[in-house]
Amino acid sequence: MQGAFGIFIGSVEPEIRRLRESSEIVRAIEPHLRRLVLQRDWLAEKHRRAIPAKAYAQYLLHRSSDHAFSVVSFVWNPGQGSPIHDHCTWGVIGQYEGVEEEGRFRQTDGGLERLGEVLARPGDVSHVYPPSRDIHQILNRTPAPTISIHIYGGDIGTQPRHVFDPATGEARPFVSGYDIPVD
Ligand code: FE2
Repeated sequence: MQGAFGIFIGSVEPEIRRLRESSEIVRAIEPHLRRLVLQRDWLAEKHRRAIPAKAYAQYLLHRSSDHAFSVVSFVWNPGQGSPIHDHCTWGVIGQYEGVEEEGRFRQTDGGLERLGEVLARPGDVSHVYPPSRDIHQILNRTPAPTISIHIYGGDIGTQPRHVFDPATGEARPFVSGYDIPVD
């Protein structure tokens, strides 16, 4: 693996293996992911392609052989978004193209509480980790596709996690899988 993406993996993998706390891992990754998403010419065309029939495409870019971490590109169709969901592992999100809105939530006795939202522009990074910073929703409210690069602890495509009913806060089991890129 060479180029900007190879340098990114070579920079973050030792930190992921050295650090123990999720809060430390995500903060160590953020500057490397920011550097990656500000560069061009490393993300293959097939990993930047929206899937018209779906709200978003989720392509696996890299998974360590022991499944300690995985890197994914997400391509969001205009006006589409994710359900409210958690990850049950740490994650760092870097905005590559376009502007995405990230809403944050937390579980309360009465259901879900919306904590606020932020707009992510190219070069912006944010992170998630359980239990307190793990529930969010990503929306593309713009008229063009948007792309963000995500890195997670574990293999996020097979990670058991949850989607949440916005009205009741009820959690439903969820496994995301990956989309197969078309060359
Ligand atoms: Fe997420």
